[in-house]
Amino acid sequence: MKWRALALAAAVVCSGFGTGIREQTLREAAAGSGILIGTAVRPLRLSESAYASTLAREFNMVEPEDALKWEVVHPGWESFDFSQADQVVDFAIRHNMKIRGHTLVWHQQNPSWLTRGKYTPSELAEILEKHIKTVVGHYRGKVFAWDVVNEAYDELHPGQLRSTIWRDQPGIEAAASYEPRASSNQVRSELGARSPQQTYSYIERCFHWAHEADPLALLFYNEAEAETVNPKSDAIFAMVRDFRQRGVPIDGVGFQMHITNLHADVASISANIGRFTALGIQVHITEMDVALPLYVNGNPRPEDLRHQADIYRQIAAACLSHPGCTAIQTWGFTDKYSWIGSHSKRTQGAALPFDRNYRAKPAYEALRNALEAGRR
Ligand code: G3I
Repeated sequence: MKWRALALAAAVVCSGFGTGIREQTLREAAAGSGILIGTAVRPLRLSESAYASTLAREFNMVEPEDALKWEVVHPGWESFDFSQADQVVDFAIRHNMKIRGHTLVWHQQNPSWLTRGKYTPSELAEILEKHIKTVVGHYRGKVFAWDVVNEAYDELHPGQLRSTIWRDQPGIEAAASYEPRASSNQVRSELGARSPQQTYSYIERCFHWAHEADPLALLFYNEAEAETVNPKSDAIFAMVRDFRQRGVPIDGVGFQMHITNLHADVASISANIGRFTALGIQVHITEMDVALPLYVNGNPRPEDLRHQADIYRQIAAACLSHPGCTAIQTWGFTDKYSWIGSHSKRTQGAALPFDRNYRAKPAYEALRNALEAGRR
């Protein structure tokens, strides 16, 4: 019986219980390693005490999940509505947190007045410049980093830019080479003849506009499925290198890190982070979650939770191994509020460090251990 008492005493001491020494939070561990630990935030949930207290305790950076997207912040041609995003910004300022802005230019979550308007390229350019300068200007000195352009590259045609309202439907270049609303195939053939610099010049203009609105803000290009060395990240690398060589105001690249199927090629992710930071820019992991298959009554399997934890640990360690990788951000922090459930029709979920009841999961411990281990 004596050995049981000894084992119990050892467990109590290790847990810090009763000794006055408690485990660090993610925020404390991150501070020790000089890295930002952030999460996407839904302003509607800030009134929920467990949500707000967990957020303030565990993170030193926030990013509005949806509140800065066009459909919310620019609901009408002449009207802007910052009320939702202001709630996140005010919370962050009260809790001494940094604020990322997401996102100034995307092909999704745009209002119908924009997507259904019959604009010429120059009219659209005016609308976009006004949007960027109004939104960045409103948060000048508060938002320290912006996702200026999000997901401009096409996962179906790796290395090519996605066909969007901003690029070629009708796009913001005053290009006479094609009629607005031309068929996307015709446009693609027209655009195919253009040099890479010509095809991504709309992106370049957006970075200049954002820089004019807040010269001190860090300006990021943000992308999905470009975490490893692959044709999409190759194309982004070429664009960023070209931008840096020509003095386009870009400060970083965001890799979203939405992990599905419990697979992450960590060696390639690390190599990719290394090549981008070697350009003299920062890398932020911007939207990390590790989706798990859900089984009986909507729960993941214990072995999948352990595998998930290992992925969180490995990717955090990969970021920390590069001084230029300066932020790790999850896309939400509690399984109670994650885009994955609805996106996967409830077949996947449990992707975040806290469960639906705000209890720390193995992923939380693994992430904190990686942050405590620090930079190597
Ligand atoms: O605001 C309306 C609300 O009025 C309405 O009652 C409700 C009915 O379903 O829909 C609400 O809009 C939802 C919006 O989020 C705001 O909550 C949309 O339906 C829903 O589709 C939208 O999903 C967002 C998704 O982007 C859109 O593609 C997710 O919350 C958001 O997490 C997700 O985030 C993106 C990043 O911005 C870019 N990278 C990929 C990532 C995941 O798709």
